[in-house]
Amino acid sequence: MAKSFHAQWSSRMTFILAATGSAVGLGNIWRFSYLVGDSGGAAFVLVYLLCIALVGLPILVSEWMIGRRGQKNPINSLAELARKNGSSQAWILVGVSGVLAAFLILSFYSVIGGWSLSYTLSSLTGDFSGQDAATIEGLFGALLESPGMLMLWHTIFMALVLGIVAFGVNQGLEKAVRLLMPALVVLLVVLVIYGMFSGHFGEALAFMFAPDMSAFTGDVVLAAMGQAFFTLSLGMGIMISYGSYLGQEVKLLGAARTVIILDTVIALLAGLAIFPIVFANGLDPSEGPGLIFVTLPIAFGGMTAGWLLGLIFFLLLTFAALTSAISLLEPVVEFLEERSPLSRVPATVVASFAIWGLGVAALLSFNLWDFTVLFGLNIFDLLDTVTAKILLPLTGLGAVLFAGWVLSRDSVAKELGLSGGAATAWNVAARFIAPIGVILVFVFNLVG
Ligand code: PHE
Repeated sequence: MAKSFHAQWSSRMTFILAATGSAVGLGNIWRFSYLVGDSGGAAFVLVYLLCIALVGLPILVSEWMIGRRGQKNPINSLAELARKNGSSQAWILVGVSGVLAAFLILSFYSVIGGWSLSYTLSSLTGDFSGQDAATIEGLFGALLESPGMLMLWHTIFMALVLGIVAFGVNQGLEKAVRLLMPALVVLLVVLVIYGMFSGHFGEALAFMFAPDMSAFTGDVVLAAMGQAFFTLSLGMGIMISYGSYLGQEVKLLGAARTVIILDTVIALLAGLAIFPIVFANGLDPSEGPGLIFVTLPIAFGGMTAGWLLGLIFFLLLTFAALTSAISLLEPVVEFLEERSPLSRVPATVVASFAIWGLGVAALLSFNLWDFTVLFGLNIFDLLDTVTAKILLPLTGLGAVLFAGWVLSRDSVAKELGLSGGAATAWNVAARFIAPIGVILVFVFNLVG
């Protein structure tokens, strides 16, 4: 008895760690803070929190449920469940667009992972110590202007991801998440406290939490929803895969709550660490993707032993980025393995090379290819926009519609351990609130 209880607990922990490892990454720190700055602050944060609760939670649970019932990769799970429930095979499109999104996201994600690696080294060599804000901004500018450096770091990051996935050492990595994730939280708290004393904390709080009605534009709302999908790793089949390894005993709603709280707390802490420094140094909050790479080194540069804190911070950030990147490569490799004659290692190499190549195009948009290709966006922004604002929400919409309308109501209520009013609430959320939320955001964006 005691033994089986222990076994269950341990598998639930591993699952939550894997899901958290995928969810917590550059999205929480790099992407969240730069979008908050870019989208005028509190309006974005508010819509983001609403999207996490009303749309993210039902979709996360739906994806896990599809995986656990299908017991296969996302595409085959959907195909089988659709067949069993007498529904159309067109549902597999949800899985296919997820794989495409993973491929596109990893290409630019690896470029930013490379920045994080590069900043780890710069912290170690003391590049930021005692430097003023302008010099530190200049260092970031110099990195962006150097295709060679960007390519070097992007290549190293992608090689690490390839190595880990090809040799299947993900397991050990997930165990490390257990230790490193709390360390990341502690470091962020230290930075928030630093911001309270040395930065313009009040201004940062107002910026993040006191919304200005005129800031609720269609684009801000769409960006906030895109971020909710991105940060929870939704709409790509990743959570469907993770669900497929899951035993029946795990309570999906409780697990989702844990993952979502961790993910959201880390993002909000990152914002509270970064904006006091932005305002204290007269920096522009809408400076874009470079925001954390300019602000945090300023804070580290001004602290005693800041090089050490910087080193630890960027190491932890790189680590969080790696665990997320691995979860992004996995579906692409799985897809190639099952749909082509390639076995695991060659499939990993082929997928990584293709992703690396697209990443090179993305990094050149900061320098040599600094021109717009479509809709006024360069390649980097286009990859980010098409995935986060279009592909992820649409794929997630498919997953929650499937769970709400195709899977039988009673079996879902039983699986989630819900009855009476709670079962009805889930049903309303999965059938109406989450899907209508996604659709409304699209409509609002068209008119707003
Ligand atoms: N959720 C990860 C992050 O916040 C990124 C990611 C997106 C990972 C989509 C997997 C799938 O950094």
